[in-house]
Amino acid sequence: MKIHIVSNKQEISRMAADLIQNLIKEKPDAILGLATGSTVIGTYEELICRYQKGSIDFSEVRTFNLDEYYGLESTHPQSYHMFIRTRLFDHINVRPENIHIPSGTPDNVEKYCRFYEQRIDNLGGIDLQLLGIGVNGHIGFNEPAGELQPDTHLVRLSEETIKANARFFDSEKEVPKQAITMGVQTIFKAKKVLLLATGKEKAPIIERLAVSGITTDIPASLLKLHPHVTIIVDKEAGSLLPDDMLSFSERGVRE
Ligand code: F6R
Repeated sequence: MKIHIVSNKQEISRMAADLIQNLIKEKPDAILGLATGSTVIGTYEELICRYQKGSIDFSEVRTFNLDEYYGLESTHPQSYHMFIRTRLFDHINVRPENIHIPSGTPDNVEKYCRFYEQRIDNLGGIDLQLLGIGVNGHIGFNEPAGELQPDTHLVRLSEETIKANARFFDSEKEVPKQAITMGVQTIFKAKKVLLLATGKEKAPIIERLAVSGITTDIPASLLKLHPHVTIIVDKEAGSLLPDDMLSFSERGVRE
């Protein structure tokens, strides 16, 4: 597993936006798998900027978000619906009918999860899945566990994730305890995967990911089996990596 290390967040955002822009150029109706959270904000800002300059057209692009907190209405300020709308969709020309975000309040969870999964498959599958990584190695909300669920499902969030995400809520108590998330197989079925990590709090998990085998204790380690994964980290997130695991980006450096 090669990990590209670049100098800072801006560089990661530019590289991620380059990959997305190139994909849309090649395939204007590409299907993007989208993440929420702090890591991807810079990428979305860069994409908005390129859209405003006329370099990217999202009019045919289809999107599927990874996850949503269970129990939160789409209008809740901390919902991932709200996040992706205010951070990306409100500023680009993606068509509302081409946007898919898991509902946090489905009537029938199992039926809804099956529907979400089938919708991805019926449209031909995700071309590029953008991912962040949790401090515990989760991707989407697939938390470390003895067994991982393949498909979209309802999951209980780990204490670590609840703590890490409390920063977005008024208090830790308000963080929902469950979420609807794509499963590891849903993510794995994407033709290409792009995982980003920034900041020193991600350094220990990036080091564990780099040196570990494939284990459900680190859900992101399953990506070692995927044929087209790109991992880009900034120098803080990459600060604990052993030298032989690094691939220096042309534009990046490790100090
Ligand atoms: C969000 C998601 C999560 C985040 C991860 C990192 O849709 O699926 O896996 O990518 O928790 O979050 P940040 O970027 O806030 O550190």
